[in-house]
Amino acid sequence: MYKPGEKSPVILDGDPGHDDAIAWLIARASMMTDKALDIKAVTAVGGNVSLDKTAYNAMRVLTLLGMTEVPLAKGAEHPLMRELMSAPSVHGESGLDGPVLPEPELSLSSLTAVELMAKVLRESDEGVTIVSTGPLTNTAALLLAHPELKEKIRRISLMGGGVSHGNWTPAAEFNILVDPEAADIVFKSGVPILMSGLDVTEKALVLKDDVERIRAIGSKVGDIVWKWLEFFYQYHKKIGYEGAPMHDPCAVMALLHPEIFTVRDYHVEIETAGKYCQGATVADVRDIKKQEPNASVVLGLDREKFVDYLVEAVAAYR
Ligand code: BDR
Ligand code: CA
Repeated sequence: MYKPGEKSPVILDGDPGHDDAIAWLIARASMMTDKALDIKAVTAVGGNVSLDKTAYNAMRVLTLLGMTEVPLAKGAEHPLMRELMSAPSVHGESGLDGPVLPEPELSLSSLTAVELMAKVLRESDEGVTIVSTGPLTNTAALLLAHPELKEKIRRISLMGGGVSHGNWTPAAEFNILVDPEAADIVFKSGVPILMSGLDVTEKALVLKDDVERIRAIGSKVGDIVWKWLEFFYQYHKKIGYEGAPMHDPCAVMALLHPEIFTVRDYHVEIETAGKYCQGATVADVRDIKKQEPNASVVLGLDREKFVDYLVEAVAAYR
């Protein structure tokens, strides 16, 4: 995990997405305050909406966050072996519906996501963390194309799966269900994995009063974030949630503030073929016959501290 004062190189890979955008905002805020994460590159993947839309959203989010100098590349349009199943019901047709965002003030890299990730790994003297908040297609494609660079990946901190349940089906969470073969490659890779699944992310709720705290910051970024949260809150309220689940931000927060999370090591397999459980993350939670762990699974958190850190991160953009 991150130690205070340490600067840890990261690649942000996602499909923005309201909660992806907020995860990126937290990562960037850490660079502005105590230089915790050093964002070397951002890569977009098809997921919540099509790749064209997630890449455009990524450009708008990086512009909003003042990250126009960070290289951004487009990755996979669709999963390794399947058609893309997207989620416009959650994030709107644009993938980032709600407040008006600035138009992009950066261009896409001429490299593909895999080429850009490989370049960052090759050029880094220390291990690089990949924060993946969408389907794992880009990350798996990197592992397939460049097995020689595996050693340069310090860990993969991902939002995906759930030990106890799913959201897209009773057994499967969206990011894993979209590309289970990619997830299977990642979980079998031997690279250290920090998995923030629904077990924790559905407890990382932003409630109405929390939205008000962010609204009260009264800054350009703060105004966009509270409107994103309001959009996400309204959607989730309709389907029975008490607040807006901050799925993707957990993958960043668990690196920055490990002390507020509960983590257990488990062996996790991905169900790629089942009739009812396709896309499930099957964790070996047994006490006996337990298999060797391949993932640190985040299970719980101190919600109030999480929200305090979120508010602090938004306020850093004053
Ligand atoms: C995941 O699905 C997406 O809609 C969110 O951005 C998050 O990554 C939650 O299941
Ligand atoms: Ca996402």
